[in-house]
Amino acid sequence: MKKIALFTMSLLALSLSSCKQDGMLPRDNHISKLSQYDSQADEIIAQMTLEEKVAMLHGKHMFTSEGVPRLGIADMIYADGPFAIREEMEPHSWNSLHLSTDSSTFFPTGSALAATWSPELAYQYGKGLAVEARLRGKDMLLGPAINIQRIPTGGRTYEYFSEDPFLSARLSVGYTQGVQDNGVAVCLKHYALNNQENNRGTVNVIASPRAMREIYLPPFEAAVVEADAYGVMAAYNKVNGYWCAENDFLQNQVLRRDWGFKGMVISDWGGTHSTVASIKNGLNVEMPNQQYLGQALLDSVKAGAVSEDIINQRVKEILRVRFAIEPIPAEKANVELTAKPEQAQIAYDVAAKSIVLLKNETNLLPINFNKVKKIAVIGDNANRKMASGGVGAGAKAHKEYTPMEGIQNIIGNKAEIVYAQGYEIPTRPRWGMQRAQAQTDNSAALREEALKVAKDADLVLFIGGNNREIETEGSDRADIMLKGNQDELVKALSQVNPNLVTILVAAAPVDLNVVEPCSPTILVSWFNGSQGGNALADVLVGNVVPSGKLPFTYPVKLEDSPAYATGSYPQTDAPIAEDIFVALVGEKSQDELMNGSSNRTTALYAEDLLVGYRWFDTKNVKPMYPFGHGLSYTTFEYSDLKATKEKYSEKEDIQVSFILKNTGSVDADEVVQLYVHRLDATVEWPYKELKAFDRVTVKAGESVEVNLSIPVEQLKYWSEEDYNWMLEHGKIELLLGSSSADIRLSTQVQI
Ligand code: BGC
Repeated sequence: MKKIALFTMSLLALSLSSCKQDGMLPRDNHISKLSQYDSQADEIIAQMTLEEKVAMLHGKHMFTSEGVPRLGIADMIYADGPFAIREEMEPHSWNSLHLSTDSSTFFPTGSALAATWSPELAYQYGKGLAVEARLRGKDMLLGPAINIQRIPTGGRTYEYFSEDPFLSARLSVGYTQGVQDNGVAVCLKHYALNNQENNRGTVNVIASPRAMREIYLPPFEAAVVEADAYGVMAAYNKVNGYWCAENDFLQNQVLRRDWGFKGMVISDWGGTHSTVASIKNGLNVEMPNQQYLGQALLDSVKAGAVSEDIINQRVKEILRVRFAIEPIPAEKANVELTAKPEQAQIAYDVAAKSIVLLKNETNLLPINFNKVKKIAVIGDNANRKMASGGVGAGAKAHKEYTPMEGIQNIIGNKAEIVYAQGYEIPTRPRWGMQRAQAQTDNSAALREEALKVAKDADLVLFIGGNNREIETEGSDRADIMLKGNQDELVKALSQVNPNLVTILVAAAPVDLNVVEPCSPTILVSWFNGSQGGNALADVLVGNVVPSGKLPFTYPVKLEDSPAYATGSYPQTDAPIAEDIFVALVGEKSQDELMNGSSNRTTALYAEDLLVGYRWFDTKNVKPMYPFGHGLSYTTFEYSDLKATKEKYSEKEDIQVSFILKNTGSVDADEVVQLYVHRLDATVEWPYKELKAFDRVTVKAGESVEVNLSIPVEQLKYWSEEDYNWMLEHGKIELLLGSSSADIRLSTQVQI
């Protein structure tokens, strides 16, 4: 408690004095490919009028910003992002154009991709998105979405990757390279610290510089420094007192100076709040309107409040990206169907490797068809599509195989399949919309029907979880309970049939206290994209051996998770305001939305570095399922862990090798994880941190040697005093495991 209070005070001091902002960061001497376009850009700028320059700095249409038509520079065309290429809309509204060509592949959403722990699959995923974006004439994809999953209830947990910065960073790099190697720019979003949806349009996030550098910024830093990301989207919220879209620290100092970013920053939709501060502090394009960076900017230049040099700089940053991305002539876009079989295959591969087997106590899976002749499939999510819903970007999916369709395709000829809906989730009332009609409670009747169906089946597949109404942009979940009386249903099902497999179609943690003792087998199958149902069915029958690992912690109860335990979420200093994006769609003005300072919430990140498993480990709180957990249909034995040396210096990589043996009877992948624990530290550290991992394929009965390496550079901490990355010399323990809680081997080295 005392520590939190002290920390809180230092955060407040920080927000008042603003950050110590001079000094130089030596770690990232990244040279962007975009610099090669500098002279070409300067030549264009020299020929442009001030009006033409300003025209580039705001939205032209809902998803377009202006080029320089007179000089043959094409408009910049954006596409949502991040898990499909969004359908075509009217230029000035959110209404669909109802084209027949714009149905796209629905890729598994962020947390599903993260559960593969595969940067290679993230690369394929990015490539698939880029191919479809090109068919639609897009220049910049509004993704990846890479904020850290700070709270289990976060509305966009399904879009984001992980609670861990290292896993998020590796996937961000893969995704970014996949997109940009295939001719489309990424737009990393939402920069930065947009870790909650409630009041995202007004909240002021106060986080320590160290937590920012070590937890929240690494996925962005890695995508910029290692993958040369061309675009960044400024988040809606404030960070340490300043709106992200006008945040000098985030944009000028960290992004451009420290990381060497040479590309363009666009605002989140409706997230610009000023003219002079925005343009000076690094914003290139106000999207989708021109309230601040249109006439007001022109006037500011003419009045001398903004120099034309700054305008030139912002235009140059856009032009660099424009030159790097080849524009697609309008007549070549949207001429053929967006979704292609190659992308369906990528979506399948990701889905198949993302499914997490939480437990399989009585080996109900893979299904043994010698014993199982009749299968009861129970649950609303068996037939529910997850491509769209709630607020925000979805997919107009060309095809989405539901769990039921997958089961019918793959199991239908092997066993009799019977179905009952079992539960129904009440529609959630939304801001700006009529409150949902009072709904009749059908749960008793639905349960009765389900029990009847389940009773005389050989196996029950309960397909529950959340849906896109529950997990949605624009608002967080109030809790993590399963909705629609699913707990009661699972309990009752287990009483009529103990052969109960629970499949969680949920992209964020749910409370499993009731399900856990009732269900001997539990799987997480995410919002798993166009091929999700097929991938699930392949796992159920054993065509695919499960190999996904949780990218976040499942807490026993919500209150155990760090932001809740420290009382920093939910914030109680202001009511939950109407969502900024919902207000934008409702054509409310900024002033109406921002009206009244009572809507200004403060989110003080009191848990500091202890996000996700870092908290559970350090504070000795047992989770329901730990970060990195996921079982297989085989077992793996780890042996012979060795480091190449006893002592490593600052510029070296710590290299370890070990033997991984598949001791079962099926070929399978294992995701091996290497964590670092500091032994004689004087600096405060989380108990352990993920620093390397690999997905390794091992044939049944065989062994492979696995090598992992950790650059010592990556073990530095952010020193607030030195405004720099510093190395703490000392002894560290390398913990090698199959999850954050299942450590199999360890060894010690000196740094
Ligand atoms: C979201 C962004 C999205 C934009 C455009 C905003 O509300 O936060 O992620 O790209 O809308 O649809």
